Amino acid sequence: MATATKPRRATPKTHQTQMLIDGKWRSSASGKTFATINPATEEVIAEVAEGDAADIDAAVKAARKAFDSGPWRKTDARDRGRLMNKFADLIESHIDELAELETLDNGKPLRESRNADLPLVIDCFRYFAGWADKIHGQTIPIRGDYFCYTKLEPVGVAGQIIPWNFPMLMVAWKWAPALAAGCTVVLKPAEQTPLSALRLGELALEAGYPAGVVNIVPGYGETAGAALVNHPGVDKIAFTGEGRTAKIIMRNAAETLKRITFELGGKSPNIVFADADLGKAVDGAVLGLFLNQGQCCCAGSRLFVQESAHAEFVERLVDKVKKRKVGDPFDADTDQGPQVDQAQFDKIMSYIEKGRNEGAKCVAGGSRVGDRGYFVAPTVFDDVTDRMAIARDEIFGPVLSVIKFREIDEVVERANATDYGLAAAVWTRDIGKAHAIADRVRAGTVWVNCYDVFDAAAPFGGFKQSGIGRELGQKALDVYTESKTVTVSLD
Ligand code: NAI
Ligand code: MG
Repeated sequence: MATATKPRRATPKTHQTQMLIDGKWRSSASGKTFATINPATEEVIAEVAEGDAADIDAAVKAARKAFDSGPWRKTDARDRGRLMNKFADLIESHIDELAELETLDNGKPLRESRNADLPLVIDCFRYFAGWADKIHGQTIPIRGDYFCYTKLEPVGVAGQIIPWNFPMLMVAWKWAPALAAGCTVVLKPAEQTPLSALRLGELALEAGYPAGVVNIVPGYGETAGAALVNHPGVDKIAFTGEGRTAKIIMRNAAETLKRITFELGGKSPNIVFADADLGKAVDGAVLGLFLNQGQCCCAGSRLFVQESAHAEFVERLVDKVKKRKVGDPFDADTDQGPQVDQAQFDKIMSYIEKGRNEGAKCVAGGSRVGDRGYFVAPTVFDDVTDRMAIARDEIFGPVLSVIKFREIDEVVERANATDYGLAAAVWTRDIGKAHAIADRVRAGTVWVNCYDVFDAAAPFGGFKQSGIGRELGQKALDVYTESKTVTVSLD
């Protein structure tokens, strides 16, 4: 059974705790600060400047000026790429320090921060650095004596609001395409995890981004976040987080008709056929749900297992889940750290209770681990039915629901019976079945015999209520550019 070791008292290095506006570090206009907590110990790590409408206004004005009349506007596309590569190199040379900061503030195992999050961050900046001078329009043969062409221009000032589950990776997904395209940005990091974004801000200045190109205003969603969404000087909002928040943002952004892109939650189906390599499927099911303490938008939280393989599969699954080591995220052999905060911890525990009350069978975990820090035992419910809350709602924690199915048409219909559509996976040795599932499941990403394979070049985003627009890949540039049509008379 998983046990929590006593989390090590971390010894933080010097942190940046102020906000970045117009190339300078400042306190908030109100002088207010908020505490960011180490989720493994529940201790305060640091007090961070708490931005609100006044700070957002200053940041947007700086971003506006940098976009409309600053040197950024005249920076050659190729030099934007070079700058981004320099930034990526700086991140790489600080990789250990950044990984530790991420683990301290978020609670994810250091092994993952260091070997998964940070390499993906660096790769993302390098990938988009390569795009900076390859964003171009077309020449178009229109009727008449005209020369017609399109050009792709940066959309302007991008307001970016991100969550706490992958704090630095979300910065990379937001900044990289925006800055490659020539936008300026105002970032509002999550209130739970502001520190790594602020450190990246320091490195961005060190790399040489001109004043006002990158601005960071930490603070709460209802104040700083909402002010960013409402600000008339912002051209576009990119948001990752909860669907409920996205609906509020969409309503508020309507006032100024901002461009919006959303990357929201999911209840992704992970479908295991009896003919799959069951060992690999078990590994994929565990990774697909328990990675990052279950705090993944694409978590494979509805595990559909074909009836004929169900008994063997669940036995192997439970065996593996029970071996997961929960504890100090700084320990090298820790598989699972704490949830990010008390609110997420409480939400997860309430779903575990709902699962039990609705008659699902808890076959692993089901309780808190230790009495300090937000640790939850890796939990598996078997005999889950489609109508139970644990099969319908995004739990965003280490709680896996196993659901039986019989055949392909039935599982496709049940997999699609959700308002979400972010990701899906299928495990089978039958290539026809694999492609049929990939074809018929309504989701932005489908993994076949794998899970959580991310690459900066591969677009990611949701169908239905899982999102609007795509991040990563060439597709990400669409949402940070405007197409301009120019028609020249040749008469
Ligand atoms: P949230 O959507 O409230 O927070 C995400 C970001 O939005 C944060 O930076 C927050 O400050 C900001 N925000 C909140 N209200 C806002 C508003 N009215 N206007 C502008 N910005 C606002 O998500 P929260 O409360 O942290 O987590 C709640 C649930 O959302 C989780 O349990 C999980 O189910 C889901 N979630 C999904 C994520 C994903 O990657 N798709 C990431 C984080 C949470
Ligand atoms: Mg919220």
